[in-house]
Amino acid sequence: MKNYLVTGGCGFIGTNFVRRVMMTQPGWRIINLDALTYAGNYGNICDIDGNGRHEFVKGSILDEALLKRIFQENELSGVIHFAAESHVDRSIWGPAAFVETNINGTFRLLQMSLEFWKSNAVAPDFRFLNVSTDEVYGSLGPTGYFTEATRYDPSSPYSASKAASDHFVRAYHRTFGLPTLITNCSNNYGPYQFPEKLIPLMILNIINEQPLPVYGDGRNVRDWLFVEDHCDALIAVIEKGAVGETYNVGGNEEKTNIAIVNLLCDTLDSRLGRGSGNSCRLIKFVADRPGHDLRYAIDAMKILQELGWSPKFSFAEGISRTIDWYLENTDWVSSVVSGEYQRWMNINYSVRK
Ligand code: NAD
Ligand code: TYD
Repeated sequence: MKNYLVTGGCGFIGTNFVRRVMMTQPGWRIINLDALTYAGNYGNICDIDGNGRHEFVKGSILDEALLKRIFQENELSGVIHFAAESHVDRSIWGPAAFVETNINGTFRLLQMSLEFWKSNAVAPDFRFLNVSTDEVYGSLGPTGYFTEATRYDPSSPYSASKAASDHFVRAYHRTFGLPTLITNCSNNYGPYQFPEKLIPLMILNIINEQPLPVYGDGRNVRDWLFVEDHCDALIAVIEKGAVGETYNVGGNEEKTNIAIVNLLCDTLDSRLGRGSGNSCRLIKFVADRPGHDLRYAIDAMKILQELGWSPKFSFAEGISRTIDWYLENTDWVSSVVSGEYQRWMNINYSVRK
């Protein structure tokens, strides 16, 4: 059995990842370390916790004593690092938490990994995978793609903090030889995504007939990837990726924000038996995000050619599954849209009139 420390495994992508591993990797055991911030939810994984292959530990990646205990008690084959503050708008309102978790937290994990790796107290195949974002590359114009060679040029405190974490990870490989890997992935969507992000926010607001706040003119473009495809890419990178390398991961599904909102309106109108065009009247163009990147698009040839990964889900298939999930999981939705969520909605949207 291989032991992996997964950080942030109760957030959106981490939850999908540990659930996917339980299904597809019978030889893996996961220690899931999550601080359960507003974005983490123990209920996401409680059904698999304690099954012999999944152990939940509540705590922070900033807690050195706790990290040490985890490394001492488990001969780790790897660290798969998801834990982060992940929302661009929150990073504009409060960047300090992003510096703390994304930069200092990653640094603590790297230091602990290095200490145990140097003293041969980890498994011989040990790897540290930093789960990162394409936002480190900044904004594209109307043409072109991010490759692994694109210069880092982050725009938001969120992307700057992720860029810093990538730089530390690469530096620990080049300077100390720690076996690291980095993935830079485009926008994910799917089950368990906290409804502060575009797609689940719009789905819930359409269901509840609330305004649909589109930033600026709605023409910003993102490359969307169904979360299950991202999880499979991460498993491929851990198993087959070349140490020290970076892999871009993307869905090859570029969409403008307004196209997505229109599609969600039409699909939900039909699923909910509402008249055609009913929900589109809720669309409201609101004040733009400062420093809003125009376009992200990924060239994912390297991971295809070297590791044989490409997305299985089209956007049409993935979005249909995502809508079904939010319609079916009303208890999950009720549990996350509590006090903190309402507070955030007021902070972020009251000034965007
Ligand atoms: P998320 O906000 O849904 O989840 C983050 C998780 O980290 C939560 O469970 C939270 O409780 C946990 N966490 C926060 N601070 C912690 C700390 N100090 N110690 C331990 N746990 C802590 O984020 P997500 O969307 O699942 O993203 C996961 C990772 O993937 C992030 O590193 C993000 O930068 C990266 N990423 C996300 C996307 C995307 O589209 N969502 C795309 C590319 C890369
Ligand atoms: P988001 O889901 O926050 O992801 P990211 O900023 O990391 O790409 O936003 C996706 C896009 O949707 C981005 O261009 C901002 C836009 N957006 C809105 O127009 N309205 C909203 O309420 C939100 C949350 C995002």
